[in-house]
Amino acid sequence: MATIRDVARLAGVSVATVSRVINKTDSVNPETAGQVLKAIEQLQYEPNAVARGLAGKKMGIIALILPDILNPFFPALARGVEDVAHKKGLTVILGNSDDQGLKESSYIKVLKKKYVDGFIFASNTILEEDVEALRKEQIPIVLLDRGLNTASCAVIRSNNREGSKLAVKHLVEQGCQKIAHIYGPQEFITARERMLGYEEIAGRLREYSPSLMEQGNFDIESGQKAVEQLLVRHPDLDGIFAGNDLMAVGALKALHERGIPVPEQVKVCGFDGIGLTEITEPELTTIAQPVYEMGGLAAQILLDEIESGTRENKLIELDVTLIPRKSTHKEES
Ligand code: RIB
Repeated sequence: MATIRDVARLAGVSVATVSRVINKTDSVNPETAGQVLKAIEQLQYEPNAVARGLAGKKMGIIALILPDILNPFFPALARGVEDVAHKKGLTVILGNSDDQGLKESSYIKVLKKKYVDGFIFASNTILEEDVEALRKEQIPIVLLDRGLNTASCAVIRSNNREGSKLAVKHLVEQGCQKIAHIYGPQEFITARERMLGYEEIAGRLREYSPSLMEQGNFDIESGQKAVEQLLVRHPDLDGIFAGNDLMAVGALKALHERGIPVPEQVKVCGFDGIGLTEITEPELTTIAQPVYEMGGLAAQILLDEIESGTRENKLIELDVTLIPRKSTHKEES
């Protein structure tokens, strides 16, 4: 059976040129393409199943690359992606990138060779050149949650800024006047947007001061450490809005260890809506993201792009919901 090398030899071109003609990835001089097609016909060359996959046929596999699968937010996101993909008979390959652009690059390089039909990344460290290269190779990609605003593809996330405003307004309505914010790493657009929402509302309060903000790392330990720093600066703070639920859980732990009653003395609100918030003591008020729906929508958009071969640059921001619980419950007057 003829191989791709036989075709290249007969057509007097490189294997890479034959591959480009088969895969339609780059433009090839029409005369050269004609020579290649003639050699394919003459040799009855049959690209194998793998090569056929590269020629734009579907392999039924998509890749989902998440930044931190230990954070319960991301498995919930994956569940939404997988349920939609599974209904369409697709297999999902899951990868963990630790929010490292180079690791994301290597995932793309390896998984492209495994002929995935498309990628969903929860990332804002993905390299723009990687997004652009996938576009050129007509491999669909959708960015989810932490997607870059500038990416040349579909980006889906929650309305983070409005969600933060909702959280701070709720704390004010519960009587808080000196509200601190534990914010996530500012390289994440989700964390930046939440800080802006916090500043927009808290900045109007008489007691507001930039020193009421402390950085965390979207995990429990950094939430605890942030509270320690905030209490040194502001022992009289009466509200804490944490930029995600894990940091809010850390805040609850730190307050408990100091014998500071929640919500009597300090009220606490998180962001994400992960299951853990239902079992903390007290149960945690949070801003719930439509995580499952976000994942499902990302999968649906990717599948549509795989089928249609088109790509749309669009930013979709989904509404979030305040879930009031005992960590902010106002005492009965
Ligand atoms: O908890 C992880 C955080 O990182 C979530 O808030 C999610 O939006 C992501 O940005």
